[in-house]
Amino acid sequence: MTQHASNYSFVVDPPARLHKDASIPKPNISSMEEYKAMYEQSIHDPTTFWGKMAREIIHWEKPFETVKQGSIENADAAWFTDGLISPCYNLVDRHAIERPNDIALIYEADELNEGRNITYRQLLADVSQCAGALASLGVTKGDRVAIYMPMIPETVITMLAIIRLGAIHSIIFAGFSSESVTDRINDSSCKLIITCDESHRGGKRIPLKSVVNRAYPNCPTLTNVLVFQRSPDASTAMEEGRDIWWHDLVPKFPKYCPPAVVNPEHPLFLLYTSGSTGKPKGVVHTTGGYLLGAAATCKYIFDLHPTDRMGCAGDVGWITGHTYIVYGPLMMGSATLVFEGTPAYPDYSRYWNIVERHKLTQWYIAPTAIRLLQRAGDEYVKYDRSSLRVLGSVGEPIAPESFMWYYNVVGQGRCAVTDTYWQTETGSHIVSSMGPITPMKPGSATLPFFGIDAVIIDPLNGKVIEGNKVEGVLAIRSSWPSAARTVWKGHDRFIDTYLKPYPGFYFTGDGAYRDEDGYIWIRGRVDDVVNISGHRLSTAEIEAALISHDSVAESAVVGVPDELTGQAINAFILLKPNAVANVDLEKQLIMSVRSTIGPFAAPRKLIFSDLPKTRSGKIMRRILRKILAGETDQIGDLSTLAEPKVVEHIIHAVHHTH
Ligand code: WTA
Repeated sequence: MTQHASNYSFVVDPPARLHKDASIPKPNISSMEEYKAMYEQSIHDPTTFWGKMAREIIHWEKPFETVKQGSIENADAAWFTDGLISPCYNLVDRHAIERPNDIALIYEADELNEGRNITYRQLLADVSQCAGALASLGVTKGDRVAIYMPMIPETVITMLAIIRLGAIHSIIFAGFSSESVTDRINDSSCKLIITCDESHRGGKRIPLKSVVNRAYPNCPTLTNVLVFQRSPDASTAMEEGRDIWWHDLVPKFPKYCPPAVVNPEHPLFLLYTSGSTGKPKGVVHTTGGYLLGAAATCKYIFDLHPTDRMGCAGDVGWITGHTYIVYGPLMMGSATLVFEGTPAYPDYSRYWNIVERHKLTQWYIAPTAIRLLQRAGDEYVKYDRSSLRVLGSVGEPIAPESFMWYYNVVGQGRCAVTDTYWQTETGSHIVSSMGPITPMKPGSATLPFFGIDAVIIDPLNGKVIEGNKVEGVLAIRSSWPSAARTVWKGHDRFIDTYLKPYPGFYFTGDGAYRDEDGYIWIRGRVDDVVNISGHRLSTAEIEAALISHDSVAESAVVGVPDELTGQAINAFILLKPNAVANVDLEKQLIMSVRSTIGPFAAPRKLIFSDLPKTRSGKIMRRILRKILAGETDQIGDLSTLAEPKVVEHIIHAVHHTH
C-alpha cells in the first residue's frame, strides 16, 4: 500500500496485485487514463458512449436507433425508446442457455449451513413457475404487485417472476408497519401481495403475514395474498378464498413461461423512499436505462465478472438490494448472495464465515455494519478472505478511520475499497472509485461514474461553482440512463423535488466539497432527511406519527450524530396544555412511531419542551441541532425567532433529559 498525504487527506492506491495476479480475472478497466477517456466521451458524446455500452451489455429484442432523447430541463428524458427489451431474458434466460449449471443465487440462511445454491437453469424454472402462478391470479403487464418478504431466494424469484410478466414490483421493506404497508399498497393500487408466514433473523422469528393481515382490510385493490411458508412448524392461519400457499399453487405451473418484451422505458419497479415532506414517494425506475446502469456500475466499480460471486449483505427492501443483490449481478451473469441473517449471529464473525465458504469476490455493506464489527473487535475478523478483491461501502459517509480498518483488517491490504455514493433516485452509483484503478482517499466518494456530469452549486445564488476546492450542493447536469424518471402518480412532485430547486439540474439533496484533485466529499443531506443505520427516513414522517398522539401539540425531529447508527433521532415534543410528560406517555409516543412507520424509526430521545419558531411559524431545526450538540454559544442570530426566550427553556429541557 502506498499512502501519501495531501493537505488534509491521504491517498491509498489500489493494490497492484489486482492487475498482476494471474489467478484473478483481468480487470474490466485497466488504468485511470482509460477511465478519463471513457468519462470524457460519456459526457461529450453520450450517444456513442451509451449506445455502445447498451449494445454490449444488454440483449435487445429489437435494436434501438435513438439512444437518448428529452432532457432534465424538460423532465422528459428517455433512453433507447425505439428498441424493445425483455428484462427477465437478460437477467435469467440468456445465462440459463449459455451456462445452465453456473450458480445464480447463493442462499445463506439465518442458521449456518441451512442455505443452498440455485443455478441459472433452476432459476429459470423457478421464475417461470412463479410467473405462471402470478398470471393465474390475474397479474398482467403494467400491474403493480407488492412484496413483503425477508431475504430468501423466493423473494428474488418473485421479483423476477413479476417482471417476466411485464408487471411492476413494489417491495416494502419487511420492517415496515402495517400502516406503512397500507399506504404504499394504496398509493400504487397493487393487485396482489406476496409475503411469508414469518422471517428468521439473528435466531429470532418475526411474524410477517400478521402485518399483512392488518393491512389487507384497508387495501381495496388487493385481491389475494400469496404466502411462502418459511417455517413449516408455525401454525399460520389462512383466510379461505384470499390467502394462498405458495406450495399449493406455484408447482402447478410449467418450468418455462415466455418472458414479456417491453419498451425500454416501461417501468421495471417502484420503490418508496422518504423525502423532506411527509408522504413517501414511489420512485419509478425504467427497464432499459436502469438495467444498463446497474450492470455498468457492477462491471466497472466492483470489477464484477460473470465468474464472480458478489456478496452484498443488504436487503432487497432498499435500493441497494435491488441494484446490487439482484439486478446488477444477474445482468452480469454472476452469482449473488442472498443473506437472510445479521452480522452478529451466531457471532460477529458471520460475514467472514460466509466469505470463506462461498469464496466471495466482492463484499458490499454499510458503514454502520463496519462500525459494529470494528467495535466488536479484530479477533472476529477471521476465516479465509483471500477470494475478495473489492470491498464496498454504501449509504452514508464512511469515516477515514473505518475505511482504513475495512482496508487493512478486513481486506488485509489486498483489496480495493469503494465508497459508493448514490440514491434510490439515481438507480445506481453516481460517485465512486473504480475498484482496481482509482486512487482512494478515505472519506471521499472520489470521482463521478460515466455519464454523471456532477456539479457543485452555490445554494445562495443557484449558480454552478466551477473549479476545484469548492463547496456547495451536489447536482447533475444532464440525464443518465438509470435515473428515476418520475414519481408514481406524481410527475409534478418529481419535478418539484428534484428538478425545480436548480432548473436544468437534478438536485441530490446532499451537500458536497470538490477538492483540489476533483475528488468529491459528500457532506450529508441539506434537507430534512435522516439516515439511521442506512435506513432513509424523513423527519416529517416521524413528526406526523408523534403528532397523531392526542397529547401532542407539535413536534420537531432532528438527526444527531451517533457512533454506531450514523444518526439517531431526537424528538422535541410540545404537549397540549393539559397533557403531562411521564414514562407512560413516552412509551406511548415511541409505540406510535413504531406502529406507524416501523421499529427502526423509533426516537432515541424524547425532549419535552417549547419549539423555536420564526414569526411565520417555521421551526428552526438548526437551533435544536446546535443545542443538542452542546454548542449553545454558536446558536447565532435569534432575531428571526418569534420568542427568543424559548431557547433558554429548550436548553434547560435538553439538560434534564436522559
Ligand atoms: C446518503 C442509498 C455519503 C446520501 C444508496 C444520499 C451517502 C442518501 C453515500 C440516499 C456515501 C448514500 N457517502 N452519503 N457513499 N451513499 N449516502 O436513497 O445522503 O437510501 O442522499 O440510497 O444516502 O439514500 P438512499
